Amino acid sequence: MSRFSKEKLKNPSMLGINSKSYQSLFNLACIIEQRKTIVSMSSLSETHKMLHRTCREFSEAELKPIASKTDQEKIFPKKQIKKMGELGLMAICIPQDVGGTGLDCMSYAIATEEISRCCASSGTIMAVHNMYLNVINYFGNEKQKEEFIRPFVDGENIGSFSISEPGSGSDASAVKTKAIKKDSLYYINGTKAWCTNGYESKAAVVFASTDPSKKHKGISAFLVKKNFPGFSVGKKENKSGIRGTSTCNLIFENCPVPEENILGELGKGFNYAMKVLDGGRIGIAAQACGIAQASLELAIDYANKRTAFGTPISKMQTIQNKIADMALKLESARLLTWRAASLKDMNKPHTKEAAMAKLAASEVATFNAHQCIQILGGMGYVSDMPAERYYRDARITEIYEGTSEIQKIVIAANILKEYE
Ligand code: CAA
Repeated sequence: MSRFSKEKLKNPSMLGINSKSYQSLFNLACIIEQRKTIVSMSSLSETHKMLHRTCREFSEAELKPIASKTDQEKIFPKKQIKKMGELGLMAICIPQDVGGTGLDCMSYAIATEEISRCCASSGTIMAVHNMYLNVINYFGNEKQKEEFIRPFVDGENIGSFSISEPGSGSDASAVKTKAIKKDSLYYINGTKAWCTNGYESKAAVVFASTDPSKKHKGISAFLVKKNFPGFSVGKKENKSGIRGTSTCNLIFENCPVPEENILGELGKGFNYAMKVLDGGRIGIAAQACGIAQASLELAIDYANKRTAFGTPISKMQTIQNKIADMALKLESARLLTWRAASLKDMNKPHTKEAAMAKLAASEVATFNAHQCIQILGGMGYVSDMPAERYYRDARITEIYEGTSEIQKIVIAANILKEYE
């Protein structure tokens, strides 16, 4: 690791990280030194700046060219996800001793934004896969980490995280799927819903009730492999956006899961899910910033080239107002996202801040994509240009990992607690 000097970090090409050669970021983890609240790109650490450049370069070269086809033909971008794994992005916050990259949450936010700026589907696949790994890393034992993390770090095997059900999304504790113990096995019965990566995942963290009388205190988390008997997937949902990802039901019919596959303590599953969602929401906030950034860039580029009434439309105040609003909202949301990530990296409470970041960033993603279409006019409404995809991709960020309405509940509850 020590062969990576500060000098080399300032010059990524010395590390061999360029569009031709994607070297794992594994070796950079030792020098994360960012432990203060970030106020701008220029105040990022050298490591974070380098990560930003590397992800931008990768994303422009590998993701931008396939993003439209991925969306239109609903193709899981397997080859590109594998390359993201080789780069270290598919296990970015997982410690090196179980094969991860060992970077911090700030790195996760920077990388997710850059990936999503070019391909929001790839951003989703990466974010949900990292959520699968993170929950196991926080609460799993050594044996579980060897079995369910190590083979999942390089982008070859994908994981998923499944708490929602057909009858419970926002009310996440109303889990109906049951896991009933018989001898040393738990038999899972029920249907989980809206599972991102559901088709491709080789394993899932599944939340089921081991004691319905205890409500949320009866929910436990199980590590379930796709090839367990009685485990199947439902139809692929036909979604408006992030169409390169699969979303489906996970169906359990008397599926036997060994007792040793309980994650952490029995009855603690709901709390685990909430803790991991705090981090997950930072990832979705970053994804939303990526979509908002792409929308802003496209709008500016088009406004500079398009003339009307004898002048580029970027010279018109009505367009400038839109661009100012887009940039202001985006930079505000990004700072909220980085603040939440910095707090997480300092092991400080960040539930409220993650919810604020996700709320603000998802709303600006939709706002910017909407304004981008408006600036492009008819060209914004057809699939020859990516603006309409940005809009479709943006909408989900206001829904998954907790709707905007849920984020407001979380923010208000935490603020009211501060004033008690
Ligand atoms: N961290 C740790 N523990 C937490 C927590 C947090 N952020 N928030 C709550 N908890 C704990 C509480 O301390 C409490 O624990 P105890 O009983 O031990 O004291 C317990 O959880 C219950 O807390 P609440 O009474 O506040 O819970 P609630 O039932 O009122 O629900 C909620 C709160 C915020 C509405 C929650 O249900 C929620 O976040 N809902 C949205 C669910 C969601 O985001 N789903 C997304 C699905 S995943 C997804 O989208 C992934 C994908 O595929 C893309």
